[in-house]
Amino acid sequence: MHKWRWRDSGSAFVRRARVERGAPKRYTAPPSMKRFYVTTPIYYVTDAPHLGTAYTTIAADAFARYHQLRGKQTRFLTGTDEHGLKLEREATARGLSPKAFVDEMASRYVEAWPQLLCQPDDFIRTTEPRHESGVQELWKRCADAGDIYLGDFEGWYCVACEGYYTEKELLEGNVCAVHKRPVERMREASYFFRLSRYGDRLIDLYTRHPEMLQPETRRNEVMSFLREGLKDLSVSRTSFKWGIPVPGDPAHIMFVWFDALANYLTALGDGSLRADFWPPTLQLLGKDIIRFHCVYWPAFLMSAGFPDDQLPRTLFAHGFLTINGEKMGKSTRNTVEPRRLAEAFGPDEVRYYLLREIAFGQDGDFSHLALIQRIRAELGGTVGNLLHRTLGAFVQKYFDGKVPTRVPAAEDDLDSVLRSTAEAHVREAAASWDRFEPHRALEAAISLASAGNKYFDECAPWALAKDPTKHDRLGVVVHHVLELLRIVSVLLWPVLPSKMNELRHQLGLEPVTPVIDRDLWPFAWGGLAAGSAIRPGAPVFRNITKDDETRLLAEFAALAGAAPAATATKVPAKATKTSGDSLPPAGISYDEFAKTDLRLGVVRTAERIPKKDKLLRLTVDIGEASGPRTIIAGIALSFAPEDLVGRSVVVVANLAPRDFGKGLVSHGMLLACGPSESLALATVDKPQSPGTRVK
Ligand code: MSP
Repeated sequence: MHKWRWRDSGSAFVRRARVERGAPKRYTAPPSMKRFYVTTPIYYVTDAPHLGTAYTTIAADAFARYHQLRGKQTRFLTGTDEHGLKLEREATARGLSPKAFVDEMASRYVEAWPQLLCQPDDFIRTTEPRHESGVQELWKRCADAGDIYLGDFEGWYCVACEGYYTEKELLEGNVCAVHKRPVERMREASYFFRLSRYGDRLIDLYTRHPEMLQPETRRNEVMSFLREGLKDLSVSRTSFKWGIPVPGDPAHIMFVWFDALANYLTALGDGSLRADFWPPTLQLLGKDIIRFHCVYWPAFLMSAGFPDDQLPRTLFAHGFLTINGEKMGKSTRNTVEPRRLAEAFGPDEVRYYLLREIAFGQDGDFSHLALIQRIRAELGGTVGNLLHRTLGAFVQKYFDGKVPTRVPAAEDDLDSVLRSTAEAHVREAAASWDRFEPHRALEAAISLASAGNKYFDECAPWALAKDPTKHDRLGVVVHHVLELLRIVSVLLWPVLPSKMNELRHQLGLEPVTPVIDRDLWPFAWGGLAAGSAIRPGAPVFRNITKDDETRLLAEFAALAGAAPAATATKVPAKATKTSGDSLPPAGISYDEFAKTDLRLGVVRTAERIPKKDKLLRLTVDIGEASGPRTIIAGIALSFAPEDLVGRSVVVVANLAPRDFGKGLVSHGMLLACGPSESLALATVDKPQSPGTRVK
């Protein structure tokens, strides 16, 4: 197995680390200003990719692209967090081994991000050998530093958070404040990490380097947590098996956060990547996982001997998103499934909306209507409009499809005002990215495009075109607009990479191609060559009409009632009913009927269950991102498993889960009629795709 070595030799390294704990080393200049290493949290595979995880990933991708444009060598890491009790339980509930389950779910993340034009350089999974050996090495470093000891632990554990809480931190009735579900009392022998040793050093570090922890409100939260004093942290478990064994004591597996946080380090290995990119320049995280990242993570690194200037440069916590004003629940989540959004609105547009609408660092709302409005007004109505009104009507018609020459004698004050407006906006956009304010960077780009439209209107090129003596002036105006569009295409590229390349194509330019060590940020006016041929084409941003809007909103609203991706649903005591049931009283409303979520499903696998004569275990595809559901159906007396595979069935998709014991949990019910030994399955009479609503 790959062994993770350290650049410093072991014992001297640890001795130095101990000295450093006493007297923190002064923070020195950042490593290479030419490198930029950005990370997202690694996502729990108990859930499929959703808006929250897409948001962080898109932001990381956009930051990486911005820094590429600035000439930096960038590295963007994301991945999946695949160990822990919650995962072990989820796999069991689906009748899968943890390994089979994580393999299946991780692939969804690998596939999801390119659909949103995110291009990570590496994707780490915590079940990979390179990670496992790296984490064990980190553990040994902390143990060698005297920071890990064996003790006994009892506490309130939230399985969803994979973390212990004190009573003070819980809501009434011992409920986890994050997940609003009851915590469990756990007691176990455990290794502890001497977190208590690191409180003062962290306070000192963040006081001297406030930029390490942003935004300020989050820093204040962390500082007050640190000032309350840190307790040692339980970092191993014996109560379940799905994790990385503690070196030298395999009865213990590591606390999932010790394992997970290390990914940012283990992904770089111990060779040149680590030498080039460590420490991370920007680590993005949601506000719910601040303590893990801003307290535990740097403390683990300090213990392992990392001096202050080898700790993450900036940990940035963004806010939480609601959907159309509601908290993200399992069903609202369907309406923001990354693939669906990208297909309906375009991946560039979704990226743009998320980073433009929400002030980075604050909570925000995702609304389908606001998304449409921004696409229409800002992308189509401002950027697209400026391009198309200039290319066809003027460049093609009056300049033979070529960028006109700027004749100095034909310039006037409006031009110089436009040029200085552009310079100011370009500077503002860069400063905004550097301050971690992508929303402002985008605002600057759009406001520059608006300035271009205003300039165009003020210059009234349609009037100039009518007067042959004003041809040079017309050329200057058109040239200015095209150059401004070139600048906007670079400013927007980090967020709208494919659309901006489309726009550049129409301008006759090459796609944006970052070059290491060359700053391509468009600080200088005048990059567009006169005489080059434009290539006008279809509108870069599609026009979303009122009819499209109505249709799209209805489609997404219908999804909100759809079967949740990973929800367990219940089958009533009898999975199928025999004939002779009395009919319910007449008169329910359609709304009442519509509460039952019926979906067309396709049976993917079917098998008998030992010692259960009447039951079959099926997996049924109802078009969910998380894959086919496990359904336990009482139809074994009527059907052989092999006769069911590939059949279309009607599934009740929104029942609560039914636990048959021994790990048999059903996540839905099939509709059928007839006596139990001669059942007929409900189906549809024409092929339809899995997940189609039956109503
Ligand atoms: N596995 C841990 C992270 C370990 S990192 C060493 C984890 N995973 S998660 O999948 O639950 O969450 C990943 C990220 O998604 C977190 O940053 C979380 O804040 C973010 N989001 C989840 N739901 C969100 C919203 N509704 N809005 C914005 N981001 C949210 O935590």
